[in-house]
Amino acid sequence: MAHNHHSDRHAGHHHHDHTDVDWAEMGPELEAQAELFTPLYEHTMAWLAKRQTEPGLIVDAGSGPGVIACLLADTFPGARVVAVDASEPLLARAGARAGRLGVADRFGTLTGELPDVLDDLDYPADLLWVGRTLHHLGDQRAALAAFAARLAVGGTLALQEGGLSARYLPRDVGFGRPGLQARLDALEEEWFAAMRADLPGTVVETEDWPALLAAAGLRPSGTRTFLLDLPAPTTDRARAYVAATLTRTRDGIGDHLEADDRATLDRLLDPDDKASVYHRPDLFLLAAQTVYTAVRTK
Ligand SMILES: C[S@@+](CC[C@H](N)C(=O)[O-])C[C@H]1O[C@@H](n2cnc3c(N)ncnc32)[C@H](O)[C@@H]1O
Repeated sequence: MAHNHHSDRHAGHHHHDHTDVDWAEMGPELEAQAELFTPLYEHTMAWLAKRQTEPGLIVDAGSGPGVIACLLADTFPGARVVAVDASEPLLARAGARAGRLGVADRFGTLTGELPDVLDDLDYPADLLWVGRTLHHLGDQRAALAAFAARLAVGGTLALQEGGLSARYLPRDVGFGRPGLQARLDALEEEWFAAMRADLPGTVVETEDWPALLAAAGLRPSGTRTFLLDLPAPTTDRARAYVAATLTRTRDGIGDHLEADDRATLDRLLDPDDKASVYHRPDLFLLAAQTVYTAVRTK
């Protein structure tokens, strides 16, 4: 997932050979995660609001369940927001959310495959947000060019990719071999590479985002990384996120772990164990997501 691919890269690998993600099934979790990450997104929105004042049309490409699309609507009260995604069930969640938050009158959805579906937009976008989604498209360079083509002159493309892998446990959790999270990250990298290799029309690319934005004809205008810092003692929602993430990790890459790490992970995920992520007092959540902006100048 993502995404920040460091935060969402755990998405969907229910079996380690399965690199295709069932997005609809991920709906509740994507929504809960984005809600948990709302403090980070609020900082992101405040930064964006300084870079693109009074956009008329905002497009959230790869919106998923629409938590961020609704934050965009909230941040820019004069704008119409269109949430775009290939997954109809996720867009249904986005629409329902917009209704609950009272912004339905200026909120729309558009279903289809990125980037081509953007041709169905009636107007060019003044702000195009692409959060943790570009890395799920086979040809990232071509997708950025297509996104750039859907921007109004003076409009901004905001790309959220990369950052740092989330941390939620001390290096030494009191049992097992210290450094478990770093070893899980290494295996996740391999899963991520296999996921990319399996995408339709996949193209290997140096992931220099400002250079790729410039190659798409845009003028890179800024890069900034936003933190989510929920220190211990943490909230039940953060615990639930960590438990869901580690469960997916165990399902996805557990077979590739050394026996000692596998045993550590089992203990961390045993709800009856006081040292598990469900109970331990030292659990925290520290995550960083990077946003790159670029402007269409002509
Ligand atoms: C990791 S989620 C990100 C959701 C949201 N932007 C966020 O940051 O929470 C990636 C989203 O991209 C969508 N997606 C992936 N590949 C797509 C494609 N080829 N066309 C359209 N949407 C796609 C998925 O359905 C999913 O909602």
